[in-house]
Amino acid sequence: MRVRKAVIPAAGFGTRFLPVTRTIPKVMLPIVDLPAIHYSVEEAAEAGIEHVVLVISRGQEATSEYFGRVPALEKALEDRGNTALLERMLAISDMIDITFVYQDEPLGLGHAVLMAREAVGDEPFAVFLPDDIIWSDTPTIGKMIDIYGERGGAVISVKEVPDEAVPSLGIVDPERITDDLSRIRRMVEKPKLEDAPSNLAIIGRYVLPPEIFQEIERTTPGAIGEIQLTDALDAIRESQGAYAYRFPGEHFDVGTPLGMLKASVYAALHRDDIGQDLRDWLRDTT
Ligand code: G1P
Repeated sequence: MRVRKAVIPAAGFGTRFLPVTRTIPKVMLPIVDLPAIHYSVEEAAEAGIEHVVLVISRGQEATSEYFGRVPALEKALEDRGNTALLERMLAISDMIDITFVYQDEPLGLGHAVLMAREAVGDEPFAVFLPDDIIWSDTPTIGKMIDIYGERGGAVISVKEVPDEAVPSLGIVDPERITDDLSRIRRMVEKPKLEDAPSNLAIIGRYVLPPEIFQEIERTTPGAIGEIQLTDALDAIRESQGAYAYRFPGEHFDVGTPLGMLKASVYAALHRDDIGQDLRDWLRDTT
């Protein structure tokens, strides 16, 4: 079955970015001039996904409004004859169909995904964690959808992380199939380093079968007292199998100010308009 929909949990309070997140949703913070959420939605669109379900909390409607039309702005750009910028703006609202659902209580990532159940229906779907930005020549989720088509089950993106990162991530126990693909023997959310089966961590891209919703409903609070997607996924692994895909490309965790800054500098260095100036300035200041 085709993967047509994606769920993007974006309801967090962005505590690590306070005070700016008092009024601006974390996923709307900019990487140069694009909000972080733009990258996940663009990756979904590039992989042929047709519909994105954003999970937000009340007061965060700016996140879904970003992907809608902005008539006053469009008219102003048209009046000024700025057609290039007008086209860029229209391309954002034309990118993909967006709807949103609310998560009223912060009960965990599994719970956030469950909020999208009705909007997704009875079909496989993708999940993007917008804190994880992956820059790659081809969209990571597209490759994962191909793997899902061949093998079914659940497909998760993973990367090798240093020891100190292990206790804050989901970790898999991999059985090698090829250099970039493994069958998962077990997965555990936020293990102590000594209990971790490997250093291969789940990074925020998933392709999931619809049965995940029943499994989340059965899942009791796990690591840090939250309903963890990883725990429900481990149940899916048992019944249908699960695969870990090591993606190529650059990954940034923009869930912290330092990670956001690194992603911004990386993105800016690769831009034709400002890259060289930034490189010169960095050389002179460091
Ligand atoms: C979530 C997942 C975790 C994954 C991580 C990747 O954790 O639960 O398995 O490794 O995202 O960013 P969170 O960052 O929400 O604590």
